[in-house]
Amino acid sequence: MKKIIIGNWKLNLDHLEAIQLLQKLNYSLEVDIEDNIDIVLAPSHTSLRSLQTIVDADKLKIKISSQDVSAYQSGAFTGEVSASQLCKLNIGYSIIGHSERRTLFNESDEIVNLKVHNSIDNKIVPIICFGESEELRNNNEYLPHIINQVNSSVKGIRKDKVEEIIFAYEPIWAIGTGKVASTEDAIEVLSAVKEEISSKPYYDQDKIRFIYGGSVSPTNATELLNSKIIDGALVGGASLDTEKFVQIIKSIKL
Ligand code: 13P
Repeated sequence: MKKIIIGNWKLNLDHLEAIQLLQKLNYSLEVDIEDNIDIVLAPSHTSLRSLQTIVDADKLKIKISSQDVSAYQSGAFTGEVSASQLCKLNIGYSIIGHSERRTLFNESDEIVNLKVHNSIDNKIVPIICFGESEELRNNNEYLPHIINQVNSSVKGIRKDKVEEIIFAYEPIWAIGTGKVASTEDAIEVLSAVKEEISSKPYYDQDKIRFIYGGSVSPTNATELLNSKIIDGALVGGASLDTEKFVQIIKSIKL
């Protein structure tokens, strides 16, 4: 399976700074890396058009993702950005159900599911995030919670419509804390999710990737990313530092 490294820039950088960071990253990557690893950047909505235009004009191999997408298609939903609007910009991916959206913006499993449907209907690859709180982990209740989140997110998805899906395990206690999950913990969860998904009719082995996110850094990337079970990483803080991000990408043994 081709590995994927996604940089989630969160609420950082204006569109000029985003352009600079994209170009710096592009100059720092060798052709063989870009051919063998999918590299995706998720800037704020205001930078999507600028970055995608550069990618298209200069035929870069780096891909662009949104950080979110509306659960609605069109109409009286002030402030929302729809999947078809993103599709029109050539955006190929969208992060969906990030824990920051679930907890800070009350995003329910039902909303996440609608967003996944809208993305797939518009040929946008959903990067579906899920993960447990520290409390659920400490009480050893994390697996049922995660399986429930995953099943809810893909409810009603039909195999014939799916080109690609990315499932991203992001334990809440590991996000922005420096407390990375152990490789064994990540493998345990991703194996359970993979087993669950493989029992579904929409599962296509070659099109689904299972990745990890939460305090990924150059220090811990080598072990995490060279495991057969972990198909890549969703990187927050370290993706804003080109040197660190490139080190993470280069820690994958080709
Ligand atoms: P950090 O890498 O900063 O922990 O963030 C992870 C994350 O939330 C990526 O989506």
